Amino acid sequence: MLAILFASVTSFVAVAENGEQLFLENCAECHQADGNGLANIYPALAGSEVVKGSGVDVALVLIIGRGEMPSFSGSISDEDIATIINYVRNAWGNSGDFISAKTINSLQK
Ligand code: HEC
Repeated sequence: MLAILFASVTSFVAVAENGEQLFLENCAECHQADGNGLANIYPALAGSEVVKGSGVDVALVLIIGRGEMPSFSGSISDEDIATIINYVRNAWGNSGDFISAKTINSLQK
């Protein structure tokens, strides 16, 4: 019980730290470090219904790309894609359940 609790706290901290780093490296150029995007150019991820809605929908945006936004399929590992999604779904007041690298992998088939 304690071990399970400890494991989930550890993975939450890992998502918060790696996720922020990966987000800054891959997404913040457009969506900005504070997740607010740039008006009329890059949509805000903070408070976005898409981002809060479903991890799978966010994954499909990252895998397929959208408009000016490139696809990240193949350029970022499934683990890192999952970590970024879990970060944006739980940063800046957003809250959403976690998606796994396995699900990301299965969506790309
Ligand atoms: C080159 C700029 C650019 C980069 C880099 C970028 N995006 Fe985007 N993103 C966009 C644009 C532009 C849109 C809106 C596309 C459209 O609807 O035509 C968008 C849309 C989205 C959406 C849908 C939001 C909504 O409310 O509809 C999500 C989620 C998203 N991006 C997440 C990310 C994540 C996570 C990363 C990093 C892995 C990322 N983006 C990197 C430009 C970018």
